Amino acid sequence: MDNNYFKMKAAVLKSYGDAKKSFHIEEVPMPVISNNEVIIKVEAFGLNFADVMARRGLYNDAPPLPSILGYDVVGEVVEAVCEEGKKLLGKRVVAMTRFGGYAEFAKTDVSGVAVISNNLASVKASALATQYCTAYYGAMECTNLFKGDRVLIHAAAGGVGTAITQLAKIKGCEVIGLTSKEAKMAYLKENGVDHPINISKVDYIDQIKKLSDNKLDVIFNSVGGKSYKKDMSILDKGGKILLYGVADRLNNSKGILGTVNLLLKFGIMTPIQLMISSQSIIGINMLRIADYKPKVLKRCLEKVVEMTENGTLDPKEGGVFKIDDLSKAHAFLESRNSVGKIVVKW
Ligand SMILES: NC(=O)c1ccc[n+]([C@@H]2O[C@H](COP(=O)([O-])OP(=O)(O)OC[C@H]3O[C@@H](n4cnc5c(N)ncnc54)[C@H](OP(=O)(O)O)[C@@H]3O)[C@@H](O)[C@H]2O)c1
Repeated sequence: MDNNYFKMKAAVLKSYGDAKKSFHIEEVPMPVISNNEVIIKVEAFGLNFADVMARRGLYNDAPPLPSILGYDVVGEVVEAVCEEGKKLLGKRVVAMTRFGGYAEFAKTDVSGVAVISNNLASVKASALATQYCTAYYGAMECTNLFKGDRVLIHAAAGGVGTAITQLAKIKGCEVIGLTSKEAKMAYLKENGVDHPINISKVDYIDQIKKLSDNKLDVIFNSVGGKSYKKDMSILDKGGKILLYGVADRLNNSKGILGTVNLLLKFGIMTPIQLMISSQSIIGINMLRIADYKPKVLKRCLEKVVEMTENGTLDPKEGGVFKIDDLSKAHAFLESRNSVGKIVVKW
C-alpha cells in the first residue's frame, strides 16, 4: 500500500530552540512498513530527555529537520507484514520507536514491541520502552548488581533514575540518589533511595564520604562532563561506572566549541589505569542496541513488562499532557522539575 495517499497528524519539529516555537501539528503521510515492521495507532507517546536535546539541536542521532521525534508509544498494532507482526494485530502494546513516535501512527521493528494488559495506564507503560529498558540493560545486563553494593544514581528522580533505583533496591543495594531540586527529595525516599542528596546544596562527593569510608561499587551517570571525573574519585577498585547520557551538554554552548569543552571536562585516561584498578567504564546507547542487538532489546522489554504487570516494578507518573500542550510538556522536562515519566495523549 502506498501510504503517501493516507495522512495522519504528527507533531513536527520545524526548528531548534524554544519548546513554544519548535513544534507544529501537521498532516503528514502515514508511515510505510516493510519486512519486520508494524504500524501502531498511538494512544499516547512518551517524552525522553533525548527529545529535549534533539529540540535544542544537540543530538547527533536525531533525524534532520523537519523531523518527528519520539522514542516510545503505547497503542494498538494495526498493520503488519511479517508473521510475528501479524500475531500482534489488534493487540495493545508498548513499543520503542526509532523516532516517529510524536504521531497518530508510528512504525517500528517487532523486536521493539511488547503486548501489555488493557489496565496498565499508558503513562506507566510508556516508561517501559526506553527508560526502563535502559535501566534494565544497564543494571541487570551490563552490570550485575549484588546485595550490599553501594550504588550512586545521577538524576535519580527522572525516568531512567526511577527505574534504576527500583532495580537496585530489588537487588538489595544501598542506593545514593542525586537531584538538583529540594522538592524531589521526598520522591527519592518514597521510591527507595536510602541517601537522597540535593546537589544544588552540597557537594555530593563530600556528602558520600561522610556517609561511609567505603567507596562505591557501581555508578550510573547520565550527566557527563565534570561529574565523570568526580565519580571516578569515589569509585572503588573493582567498581563499574555506566555512562548513558550527557545532560551537561545543555550547559555548554552549541557547536564544536561546546562539544570540545564537554570532552575536556571528562579528562583523559588510559585503559591501563582501568586494568590496574580492575575498574570498568561501560557506555550505553539503546539506539545502537535496537539497531545491532534487537534480541537484547526484546529480552529487556519483555522482562520489564513482565515485572511491571506482576507488580515487581512500578513506573511513576510524571505528567499526562494533551497534544496541544506538547510544548508545555517539553518545557517541564527541560526545567528539571519533573519526576518519573511524562506522556502526551492524542
Ligand atoms: N544512552 C541511552 O540509550 C539513554 C536512554 C534513555 C535515557 N538516556 C539518558 O538518561 C538521562 C535520563 O533520561 P530521562 O529521559 O529519564 O530524563 P529524566 O531523568 O526524566 O530528566 C532529566 C533529568 O536530568 C537531570 N539533569 C542533570 N543535568 C541537567 C541539565 N543540565 N539540564 C537538565 N536536566 C539535567 C535533571 O534531574 P535533577 O535536576 O533532579 O538532577 C532532569 O530532571 C538523560 O541524560 C538521557 O539522555 C540515555
